[in-house]
Amino acid sequence: MFGSPEEVPNGALFDETNARLKGTFTIPVLSDRDLNDRLQEVSQTTWSDLRADRITVKFLVGPGVDYRLHGEKVAWRRNAAIEFEGFVPVNGHPTVAGIAYYGAVDPRRMPPVDTEISERNLHRQALANPSWRDTSHVRCEVLTPIGNQDVCGLVDLYNQRFDRYLVRFTHETVRFMVGGSLTMVIRETGKIVSVAIAERVVFAVPGAASISFYEISDVATDTACGGRGYALALYRALIGRIRREEPNAVVTTEIRACWAPLYRIMVASGFVEGGYLPAHCLIRSVGAETIHQAGDFGDLALFFHNPNPVT
Ligand SMILES: CC(C)(COP(=O)(O)OP(=O)(O)OC[C@H]1O[C@@H](n2cnc3c(N)ncnc32)[C@H](O)[C@@H]1OP(=O)(O)O)[C@@H](O)C(=O)NCCC(=O)NCCS
Repeated sequence: MFGSPEEVPNGALFDETNARLKGTFTIPVLSDRDLNDRLQEVSQTTWSDLRADRITVKFLVGPGVDYRLHGEKVAWRRNAAIEFEGFVPVNGHPTVAGIAYYGAVDPRRMPPVDTEISERNLHRQALANPSWRDTSHVRCEVLTPIGNQDVCGLVDLYNQRFDRYLVRFTHETVRFMVGGSLTMVIRETGKIVSVAIAERVVFAVPGAASISFYEISDVATDTACGGRGYALALYRALIGRIRREEPNAVVTTEIRACWAPLYRIMVASGFVEGGYLPAHCLIRSVGAETIHQAGDFGDLALFFHNPNPVT
C-alpha cells in the first residue's frame, strides 16, 4: 500500500509468486488528469522490472472522476497496455467515491480469447436461475483462537482443494492467513469441513475518514461435503457480522471466474459484479472448474457486497 505511485521505489510493487506488479494507492485521485498522470507514473515506475508479466493497481477515486479512462489505455512495456478492469463503490465517504482497478497482461500470459466470454456467461446463468437456498440451519463458527488440531485440519483441507495457490499451505502459512483476520468455519463431527476468511485492511485517507476494506478469500469446502450450501452459509455469516459492526465497510471478493458454484454464491449472498481480472494469480483447483483453466494463472471475477439492495 502506498500513497501515490511517485512514492514507490522502482521494483517495490513486485510480487514474485505471481510474477506480477501489484499496488494500492490511498491518496485519492480527484480529476481525470490526475488519474492519467498517476497511471503514467505506474507505467514508468515499473518499466525496468522485466520479470513480471502482469500488473494490477488500485486507486481511491473521488466523485466525478472518469475512472473508466474514456475507454483509453496507457502503454505498458512494448506490447501491453494498462486498462480499466473494475470498480467498487465506497459508501458514505466525503472524498472517495470508490476504488478503481487497473491492469495489464503480457500477451504470453493472456488466457484464450473465448475463455472470458464463457466465464462471464456463468454469471449470467446464475442471475437467470438464482439459488435462494436457506442456510439458516447451518452452524458457522468464528475461529478464534486457533488450536493446533484446527491448523492441521485447515492445512489438509486447503491441500485437498487447491492444486495451486498463492502460497503453499503449511502450518506457518495457515496460521498467518487466519491470524488477524475474521475466519469462519463449519464443522462436522468436530472436524473443519468448510472455511472462509475475511481479511481487513484500513485505508488511511489524508484529511478524511479512513476506509475499512474487507476481502473475503481462501474459501474451501471438503469434497465430501460439497453442494450442501456450506460456502454460501459462510459468505452470508461473514457479511452479517461485518455489516453489524461496520455498515459502511467495503466488502469485496475475487472469485475464480471458471467455477459456476461461486457465481451462485455471489448472487445468493448479495454480491454484485465489479470487474474481471485476467490471468491474475497462481490458482487452480482441479475438480472445481466448470470451464477449463488454461495455464497456471487463473482469471478472477471481482465482486463487491451491496449494502443497500433494491428489494
Ligand atoms: C467453491 C467451493 C468453496 C464451494 O463450496 P460448497 O460448500 O460446495 O458450495 P455451496 O454448497 O455453498 O454451493 C453453492 C452452489 O453451488 C452448487 N454446487 C456446489 N458444488 C457443486 C458441484 N460440484 N457441482 C454442481 N454444483 C455445485 C451448490 O449446489 C449451490 O447451488 P444451489 O444452492 O443452487 O444448490 C468448493 O467448490 C471448493 O472448495 N472449491 C475448490 C476451492 C475453490 O475454488 N475456492 C474458491 C476460490 S476463489
